[in-house]
Amino acid sequence: MGDARAGEESAQVLELAQRIAREAGAIQRDRYEKRISIETKSSSIDLVTEVDRACEALIVGAIESERPGDAIVAEEGGGQDTAGAAWRWVIDPLDGTTNYAHGFPRFCVSIGVERHGAREVGVVYDPLLDELYHAVRGGGAWLGERRLAVSEQQDLGRSLVATGFAYDVHRTSQANAETFARMLGAARGIRRDGSAALDLCYVAAGRLDAYWELKLRPWDIAAGILFVEEAGGVVTPGDDTGTLDAAALDASSYASVVATNGHVHEQVMERIRGA
Ligand code: IPD
Ligand code: CA
Ligand code: CA
Repeated sequence: MGDARAGEESAQVLELAQRIAREAGAIQRDRYEKRISIETKSSSIDLVTEVDRACEALIVGAIESERPGDAIVAEEGGGQDTAGAAWRWVIDPLDGTTNYAHGFPRFCVSIGVERHGAREVGVVYDPLLDELYHAVRGGGAWLGERRLAVSEQQDLGRSLVATGFAYDVHRTSQANAETFARMLGAARGIRRDGSAALDLCYVAAGRLDAYWELKLRPWDIAAGILFVEEAGGVVTPGDDTGTLDAAALDASSYASVVATNGHVHEQVMERIRGA
């Protein structure tokens, strides 16, 4: 396929992703702080609500009807990860479910789309702030009309840093707790806001200087990694053996992620390695 036609198709994919992210975000906004049904998944603290499911059904249904043949990996199990498809959608219908279930106003829809195994399009929508992030590889990362750039902070001691904890934290709390303690003694401040996708958007926007998390799922990072890279930042695995290669991640994968403005990357890595 020629460059022009590939670019046209990316633009169509972006338009669809933006539309369905806004529609799913509207469901989140409408049902926010209302009585909703909540169940648990992998552990007593891993929740899924009727809103996660309603958002996923809307997003997956629209992709299946408008782009039949595209592969889909969605957190709550919708869609088919069809082998050999040129395009693959990686969807977190509601990132920040614990926040949502408690009425804590920080959650979003995250949609990343790969083309031939490489991240090509990303969309994240924060429905309460009405903030729509988007990127197409090579075209920059955007928050609405504003082109995003990572911060210029050089010093971890003056950096605002975010992290998160996986749902097996009750069983393996030491994994990130020790890194967290080291970072507490090094950064200006640490946030644990409960939405990995928004944390990555905030690194891209320069609102955070760095973010790390050790056991993420592909849908948490599918859009956000593209934003950080397109905003001039650096994203690497948090360990020597892990990969963030989109083609290598499927519905059963875990990934550890370090995303920074680039300048403080090594300083963050030192704390993760235990220095
Ligand atoms: C979670 C959030 C949270 C992160 C967890 C994720 P979910 O996603 O992104 O910030 O710390 O690792 O699983 O379950 O709300 O979609
Ligand atoms: Ca998530
Ligand atoms: Ca989710």
